[in-house]
Amino acid sequence: MKIVTIIGARPQIIKAAALSRAIREKFSDTITEVIVHTGQHYDDNMSQVFFDELEIPQPQLNLNVGSGTHGKQTAQMMEGIEEVLMKEKPDALVVYGDTNSTLAGALAASKLHVPVVHIEAGLRSFNRSMPEEVNRIVCDHLSALLFSPTKAGYHNLVDEGFKQGEKAKASADNPYFYHCGDVMYDNSIYFSRIAEAKTEVLKDLEKEKFVLVTIHRNNNTDDPERLNALFSALNRIATNEKMKVVLPLHPRTSKLLAGTLSPELYSAVKGNPLFKILPPVSFLEMIALEKNARLVMTDSGGVQKEAFFFSKPCVILRSETEWVELVEQGTAIIADADEEKIVAAYKALLSKKNMKFPPLFGDGKAAEFICGEMLKHFKPA
Ligand code: UD1
Ligand code: UDP
Repeated sequence: MKIVTIIGARPQIIKAAALSRAIREKFSDTITEVIVHTGQHYDDNMSQVFFDELEIPQPQLNLNVGSGTHGKQTAQMMEGIEEVLMKEKPDALVVYGDTNSTLAGALAASKLHVPVVHIEAGLRSFNRSMPEEVNRIVCDHLSALLFSPTKAGYHNLVDEGFKQGEKAKASADNPYFYHCGDVMYDNSIYFSRIAEAKTEVLKDLEKEKFVLVTIHRNNNTDDPERLNALFSALNRIATNEKMKVVLPLHPRTSKLLAGTLSPELYSAVKGNPLFKILPPVSFLEMIALEKNARLVMTDSGGVQKEAFFFSKPCVILRSETEWVELVEQGTAIIADADEEKIVAAYKALLSKKNMKFPPLFGDGKAAEFICGEMLKHFKPA
């Protein structure tokens, strides 16, 4: 069976590592994978570093689409993906998550009647002003196989009218959907063993004496009021609580910081020795930071979950989350970009005793399961 895998943004490259590893270790005689990078992320520390570190085969092709408006970026990706699909004639196309690369892959493949396999299906924020919500809804409804990492994701699909396929071969009109665990959990377990030994990011940090923060969501970076509120809260936590704030910053955010924060706040943050602002770190460095942080604050989807995988409380810097289990479990609090709520959530989570982090995201073998199901449906006779 031949699959074409589309990746483009940082988290997809990381997720692809789990499937490529499963193919290499267990399915090398039955699955051939052609990896296509759209080029949505292109800085070395947003892309190449993950290939170097996570044993992912280099993409056979990079479409080098780069940054742009949503329409232009997605259209250019579709054009390139269509060409690849016509040449490669795969048995299925694999896409991850909810980025513009996901959408472009799903649209291009479905027009050519190549079955779409969506990994991380069914997640919903119920907020269609998020570009990711639009991408994931469209992608799910074009997919033949849908792999949801959580029970909630599976039930969202049921609520949207998905009915389990009946004929032997899955298609967009006869989709099969599963609750199968999270490939990111597979990765966290696998790479956690080597993260600290292979990185130096913890060199000047004391265990549990820092909070780890990431901010990149467009409605946080592009809205001055929200970005100021977020940094004001972080500055208060650093100054009043004497807590070190470690902030590996997405390029989207770092480009906007100086021009968006008020001059007073910008110089307070820059001048505060408890702020450690870093360029984006590698995945192994990120895991080392997550494992050793006291608490995580983030608007990232992936980082919210990784906090949970490593038994860390999490302040969610958004008004809602797709990972509702974390909030239900009481290990995460939604604080939006509200300065007071963020500081209150930080204090509440730190004072909470006996938090429980049960295994809600599978058994670390989601990628293996996905490969098996793909073979059942798409292996040529
Ligand atoms: C994208 C995804 C988002 C995901 C995130 C992961 C969409 C709509 N959004 O958001 O769901 O959470 O990736 O990180 O697909 N930039 C660089 N260098 C890079 C990449 C980006 O400087 O290598 C800067 C550019 O100024 C670019 C901006 O970041 O315009 C935004 O990049 P883009 O890929 O459009 O969206 P993300 O915010 O990264
Ligand atoms: N990540 C990383 N380095 C960083 C920040 C994040 O390796 O500096 C990893 C993180 O561990 C997680 C993934 O990137 O696996 C999450 O990606 P991101 O936050 O960019 O996107 P989202 O998950 O919100 O789509």
